[in-house]
Amino acid sequence: MRTTSSNAPSTGTRTALRTYRIAVIPGDGTGPEVIREGCKVLDALAKRDGFRLDWRSYDVGGDRYLKTGETLPEAVIKELREVDAIYLGAIGHPDVKSGILERGILLRLRFELDQYINLRPVRLYPGVWTPLRDKGPEHIDFVVVRENTEGLYTGVGGFLKQGTPEEVALQTSVNTRRGVERCIRYAFNYTRTRAKRLSTLSAVPGTGQAGVAGRRQAGKKLTFCGKTNVLTYAHDLWERVFNEVAKEYPDIQTDYTHVDACCMWMVKNPEWFDVIVTDNMFGDIITDLGAMIQGGMGIAAGGNLNPEGVSMFEPIGGSAPKYTGQNVINPLAAICAGGMMLEQLGEVAAAQDVEQSVMQITASRLKSLAAGKMGFSTSEVGDLVIKAFNG
Ligand code: IPM
Ligand code: MG
Repeated sequence: MRTTSSNAPSTGTRTALRTYRIAVIPGDGTGPEVIREGCKVLDALAKRDGFRLDWRSYDVGGDRYLKTGETLPEAVIKELREVDAIYLGAIGHPDVKSGILERGILLRLRFELDQYINLRPVRLYPGVWTPLRDKGPEHIDFVVVRENTEGLYTGVGGFLKQGTPEEVALQTSVNTRRGVERCIRYAFNYTRTRAKRLSTLSAVPGTGQAGVAGRRQAGKKLTFCGKTNVLTYAHDLWERVFNEVAKEYPDIQTDYTHVDACCMWMVKNPEWFDVIVTDNMFGDIITDLGAMIQGGMGIAAGGNLNPEGVSMFEPIGGSAPKYTGQNVINPLAAICAGGMMLEQLGEVAAAQDVEQSVMQITASRLKSLAAGKMGFSTSEVGDLVIKAFNG
């Protein structure tokens, strides 16, 4: 249930401030610690730019489940449908059987709110260590558009003769024409606007590279990542829709890669990618690889988008129980997710400042992005980001 509201509601006087209603689900493990920093950074930007964030906190997560047996009560879902965005920390508790909270909270929210896009930027910021030798920020800068409501995630399937030696387990991948098309269309549109936006950005701070802008202007490319040689029904549909929709975007170069080869290229030639569109399961897998090449789970952020409804933003790293409560976890992924949320709310200048500030401190301040090795505590990293944009 809703528990706190840090910003007191206005007392009847008319206010000219743009106000956004944000549901916050700090969740489990280190979720609350990183979300606290995210809210702090966003509030500082709101103050600077003259808008207001009306935070409404919900205590859903593992602790609540252990106490009450509830994952996501209907009343909460009803309220979440009414907000401007959702800001999520992490879901996953060591004392709860794997799958219950993931399905009952995270996936349920994605499905109920029809957040059909999972947008996951893979960008290596300056000063950040990558396991890829000889690759830098000018090579690792692409975005994965993951379908987020279909495929193997729908829960369609079943057992036959369960518990016997003849047991059969089925898990069906669901791909609808409508679901595939809306995802692919989103990816084409996104590729177009991303190219436009990046071409106006300046050089990567700390590197002296004008690389990003120059390279982007050279080409806007959307790569479909699938497995058409094996998934002869599901990805046949995807391929047909991709090729059909591509005709409406003659300015965008298209490409195809099998998912296994995609993993190979992400390691060997990540600079080939601009935007990748893929199904739910493959998107899940390749974005963990993406997170690693961009510096790890401490920096990887994502948005679960319903472009016509309520979207939800989260660091993609999980609840990291062993670091809970120690003020050592990296909050940058949560802060970057907050930046993505600002962009979606229309606060584009503030969103760009979040990213620029994060780049500044990765380039010049943080020793590492790993928990406990940053050279600063969780809350100090939040302070550094605020200092960076306040000049
Ligand atoms: C992710 C996570 C989830 C997913 C899990 C926790 C269900 O891995 O957001 O990538 O598979 O989508
Ligand atoms: Mg995942």
